[in-house]
Amino acid sequence: MSHKLFLLPGDGIGPEIMNEVKAIINWMNANMDVTFECDEGLVGGSAYDACGEAISEEDMAKALAADAVMFGAVGGPKWADVPYDKRPEAGLLRLRKDLGLFANLRPALCYPALADSSSLKKELVEGLDILIVRELTGGVYFGEPKEVVTLEDGQQRAVDTQVYTTSEIERITRVAFDLAKTRSNRVSSAEKHNVMKSGVLWKQIVTKIGSEEYPDTPLEHVLADNCAMQLVRRPKQYDVIVCDNLFGDILSDVAAMLTGSLGMLPSASLGAPDAVTGKRKAMYEPVHGSAPDISGTGSANPIATIASFAMALRYSFEMVKEADMVEKAIANVLEKGLRTRDIAKEGDTTVTTTQMGAAIIAELEAL
Ligand code: NAI
Ligand code: MG
Repeated sequence: MSHKLFLLPGDGIGPEIMNEVKAIINWMNANMDVTFECDEGLVGGSAYDACGEAISEEDMAKALAADAVMFGAVGGPKWADVPYDKRPEAGLLRLRKDLGLFANLRPALCYPALADSSSLKKELVEGLDILIVRELTGGVYFGEPKEVVTLEDGQQRAVDTQVYTTSEIERITRVAFDLAKTRSNRVSSAEKHNVMKSGVLWKQIVTKIGSEEYPDTPLEHVLADNCAMQLVRRPKQYDVIVCDNLFGDILSDVAAMLTGSLGMLPSASLGAPDAVTGKRKAMYEPVHGSAPDISGTGSANPIATIASFAMALRYSFEMVKEADMVEKAIANVLEKGLRTRDIAKEGDTTVTTTQMGAAIIAELEAL
């Protein structure tokens, strides 16, 4: 099997962590029955420096043609004063928009070896494995009207509009149910139908899709504020949580903090299935940014990016066994006590970015 991957390392620690993914890809090409054809481009500040845009048309075309995109991170103080539409984040937004990535997947997985460093009690998070499926292109962040107007009495009035259509809710619901079937087969839908019309429609459509298309997958509805509380009180009650853009932004950050460091958190963004091949456009990236404060020191944790590559194996390439292997290799190196600086406790010896990457490959060899 041959797959086309397009790598966009980006700025700051982006290239440092992406190097460790490249090492794993090379290892897989040499040791497994698969060929990843990798091409690489520029995004963010590094693209701006090279061509005056946050991503070139040529690289955008390559991203569209690839089976999946691996994205590092963008941004940094060097580009603080570039024009707004050419700022590093514009590259990320362009990719999301042109690839039509409407579903954002944020797993919250607690590696047993790090259960002690959670902000919650160990028994609440040990073995935690939940997936938040956030709608990414609709809702109150994009709805019109969106404005600040000055009233006759001199006050200002700010307006944001929460808008969802039937088809937008249907497609994110299907992503959530499809993913649940590959996991513990349960879906929780979070909204606020008690105070929001969009919540009423959300609940109605999720219920309809669930009962008509996924009758064997249990569905529960939970009010989004209660969901935030339950995530902190008893997170393991959840498997897949599906929610809109705003609630998903908040709930995924709550879930993230259950599991420890920013350097550990992967994500995936998926588009609609292609009419002919059924394959979804997809981009995989760590949740963290370009960490300019530690860039160049060799201390960046590559695990979030490597775990994002594991998600690519799972969701874009149907390589579930290999995805499990990569995740197991990560768990094993943590079990053995390897720590980059961000996940080290006082007194721990720490390893560099490349040492962590090499240790994960050594585990893959041994599995
Ligand atoms: P950040 O995520 O880059 O860093 C926050 C803190 O976490 C820093 O102390 C950093 O050293 C640490 N950290 C992050 N990733 C780490 C890793 N893999 N290993 C070890 N430590 C890690 O967020 P910040 O500082 O707010 O933003 C820095 C730049 O990144 C800004 O230009 C921002 O716009 C950009 N950014 C880009 C994102 C993206 O490309 N998707 C997302 C978030 C921020
Ligand atoms: Mg957020």
